Amino acid sequence: MANVKFYAGESFPLEMHKVRIIQKLNLIPVEERGKAIAGAGNNTFLLNNRDVFMDMLTDSGVNAMSDRQLASMMKADDSYAGSETFTRLDKSVKHFFGCKYFLPAHQGRACENILSQTFVKPGYVVPMNYHFTTAKALITVNGGTVEELIIDEGLKIRSECPFKGDIDIGRLKEVIKRYGADKVAYVRMEAGTNLVGGQPFSLANYEEVSKLCRASKIPLVLDASLLADNLYFNKRREERCKKMTLHEIVLKFAELSDIIYFSARKLGFARGGGICTNDHDIFLRLRELVPLFEGFLTYGGMSVREMEAIAVGLDETLDEDMISQGPIFIDYMVKELDKRGIPVITPPGGLGCHIDAMAFLDHIPQEQYPAGALGSAYFIASGIRGMERGTLSEQRDPDGKEHFSNMELLRLALPRRVFTLSQVNYAIDRLVWLYENRRLVEGLRFVEEPRILRFFFGRLEPVSGWQGKLIEKFRKDFGDSL
Ligand SMILES: Cc1ncc(COP(=O)(O)O)c(C=O)c1O
Repeated sequence: MANVKFYAGESFPLEMHKVRIIQKLNLIPVEERGKAIAGAGNNTFLLNNRDVFMDMLTDSGVNAMSDRQLASMMKADDSYAGSETFTRLDKSVKHFFGCKYFLPAHQGRACENILSQTFVKPGYVVPMNYHFTTAKALITVNGGTVEELIIDEGLKIRSECPFKGDIDIGRLKEVIKRYGADKVAYVRMEAGTNLVGGQPFSLANYEEVSKLCRASKIPLVLDASLLADNLYFNKRREERCKKMTLHEIVLKFAELSDIIYFSARKLGFARGGGICTNDHDIFLRLRELVPLFEGFLTYGGMSVREMEAIAVGLDETLDEDMISQGPIFIDYMVKELDKRGIPVITPPGGLGCHIDAMAFLDHIPQEQYPAGALGSAYFIASGIRGMERGTLSEQRDPDGKEHFSNMELLRLALPRRVFTLSQVNYAIDRLVWLYENRRLVEGLRFVEEPRILRFFFGRLEPVSGWQGKLIEKFRKDFGDSL
């Protein structure tokens, strides 16, 4: 963030950009919000966006683009093979990561599919700092197991640890020994660890992981989807990184990795993805799957316009002013909620603000999905759509037993550069009201439960008539307000 000091009182987040295109928002009355969430099976993924006021579901593919990105999209070359657009993207990715080979893919999970199909076999394990839903599903579908080895501090809701995304090196050594290095498909490190609250890992930790992987001849895979946030925190919180440029930090991470993949719905503020490596054999093995599942090697399922935008977006990721808006807004929101006693993950991370539903709704048992219930109640209270990141987002164990999540979170993502500070203040206000009325909220149960990735399209109902009571209380407290 630019060094701007404030003359009077406390400082506040200051954007280093201006907004030149807007989209009108719609806030429907609370009764309509109640009907909309019931119609969506209490699953915020199934809401129609016309019923949503602030869409804080995700930061995936919904970040605001820059003028340079939009301008670049106009010169896209849409040849099926060998387009100039690909040449520009290829050059930009290789410059950004300092790597030799790049394979395009249509989004992050497509990269995960290619990696899992290539490296994971029944009986193999993939140790990681923490799982991401699609990464885990694609590993298990190929017969592998996931071992989550995040440091203990990473799973504490309240903490002052600056790098909660670090992996526990001792446990990593133990897992490698237990399975044998030949059964470790790869080690996966996720930047800006999504499911524990957008928490970063340190360069120091990554160096240790890389050393261990190289000594055991295990490929180290970096999921760089949320690298922009991770970089911001490396630069702010890690002494040695303070003196490095953002690009120097990226190049260091890349040098320590064997494979890097990313969702460009996040990294690069556009839509797409890709895999990078310096290893020619790995490149050849992965390349076989691109034309099978993605598209020809010079577009990989992406639209050429998006490819142009990614090329520019990666360049802009190296400018701190362009990537700081997310972390500084999240910092503001987390601190304001914390001041008001609302349980949130600390320290503030990237991606969004994460509410601890287990503490917020401590009267709802995990089998009734407290984070899902909070998401449903918050939509009724505010018209804001968040995302359940708890037991609902887990898969059942192979024997059908519920797999309780370590944390029950309602994630309120802050799409980068999209919302204003007054909108964030509205989000805070409605959470404060809901917290004061939390005893009115009860749990949810499934009425339709898909076997895989059930959180995307499963449908639930409230265990009682609590939603009607919540709407009544809202009317009583807010009168004719929307
Ligand atoms: C850390 C991480 N990895 C991978 C993915 C998958 O990317 P995509 O949604 O582009 O398939 C995501 C998406 O949210 C993510 O957050």
